[in-house]
Amino acid sequence: MTFEKGNDKIGMGRQKEKKPVYFRMLIFRKEGKIAMENFNFCVGTNILFGKGKEEQLSELLKKYGTRVLLTYGGGSIKRTGLYDKVKKLLEDFEVFELGGIEPNPRIDSVYEGATICREEDVDVILAVGGGSTIDCSKAIAAAAYYEGDAWDLILDPSKIEKALPICTILTLSATGSEMDNGGVITNLRTKEKLGFGHPLLLPKVSVLNPENTFSVPANQTAAGSADIMSHILEVYFDRKQAAVPDRISEGLLKTVIQYAPIAVKEPDNYEARAELMWTSSLAINGICSTGKECAWSCHPMEHELSAYYDITHGVGLAILTPRWMRYILNDDTVDKFAEYAVNVWNVVPAEDKYETANAGIDATEAFLKSLGIPMTLTELNIGEEHFARMAEHAVEFGGLNDAYVPLSREDVVNIYKMCL
Ligand code: NZQ
Ligand code: ZN
Repeated sequence: MTFEKGNDKIGMGRQKEKKPVYFRMLIFRKEGKIAMENFNFCVGTNILFGKGKEEQLSELLKKYGTRVLLTYGGGSIKRTGLYDKVKKLLEDFEVFELGGIEPNPRIDSVYEGATICREEDVDVILAVGGGSTIDCSKAIAAAAYYEGDAWDLILDPSKIEKALPICTILTLSATGSEMDNGGVITNLRTKEKLGFGHPLLLPKVSVLNPENTFSVPANQTAAGSADIMSHILEVYFDRKQAAVPDRISEGLLKTVIQYAPIAVKEPDNYEARAELMWTSSLAINGICSTGKECAWSCHPMEHELSAYYDITHGVGLAILTPRWMRYILNDDTVDKFAEYAVNVWNVVPAEDKYETANAGIDATEAFLKSLGIPMTLTELNIGEEHFARMAEHAVEFGGLNDAYVPLSREDVVNIYKMCL
């Protein structure tokens, strides 16, 4: 195992004894570790990024037909005036609507949307909103062609054979659903919140106008930023060695660290909103996971929290992430955590690599707290009564056996307890 000195001029600083610091970039290489996996990388979403980019949408939508299902959430787009703008853009189309899609979208909204698509012979779905609206629209797109219960498709996405095309106008930087082929749907009856994905569900076109996120409140901006960071960390900590995605990941993490506090304080700061918006898409469109192999760790644990307590996804992740990091820090992972500490948080390496690693974890926790996110489950009135069942489900459905550090039910319960 070797640590290599980097020579990152941007990060070069001065230590107390006035010696130049050449350790700002730490690259971990473990001999015998298997390098990048083979991969295919093809993300076909046409991204329209910037002010006023919605204007180009009607022309592109026409390619898919004239009958549009417009989907949106609980009303934010009506309050901001985006709804009126979109309706104007759709003047030449026959428009059907499904509003009121919930945060942590429910399977019942999927049923409702699929019925409209079938009865009205919809050609294309336009989702205007955050991840919940986009995810729900993906499930509707597949359910529109499925004769059985749409929940079957969430349980087993390989049953998806056909889907309506989806276009999106993003209003919240967080999930990356605007540029990935996955989604997450909640079934309140079974108390399950499950991820699903299929190549047919990748949005065809996504409008990323940062101005559409000016109205996102501070708590959602903070939670969204935690979600973006988590998407990167889920693949940064992986058993495969892959420098290209890791250096990209570090840059994206630093971008969130720089701009999230600005967006929280100054909601209409275009620069901050723009940087976060593009980071949200790149965090999960596959570029950070090229050549990687492990299953995710914090998301399966968080989805149980949202399923049982309907909490904001990014808040659950912010609470879990530092605890998960501390729990899995060991002789096998310490080098990677030290690399993270130095390359992302500019920690000056100590003699003891555990000290360096812990400084990075401390910095992660302090940063998330500084955004105003509640950092314990107790603050959300969550106790340990369901931990055992949640842990069992997370391990069974979340692939935690294949995570960076495999997690058993007992491990998951221990991590939940650390979050109280
Ligand atoms: O419903 P409206 O009225 O629009 O209000 C929403 C909602 O209350 C509000 N909001 C959105 N844009 C706004 C705004 N308020 C003011 N101004 C705006 N411009 O914010 C609240 C949260 O919206 P939501 O869409 O639920 O948030 P987010 O984008 O964080 O999506 C969360 C969902 O996505 C799933 C999560 O599990 C959760 O169900 N995820 C989806 C992923 C994916 N597709 O790849 C990956 C993620 O890891 C995540 O699991
Ligand atoms: Zn997420």
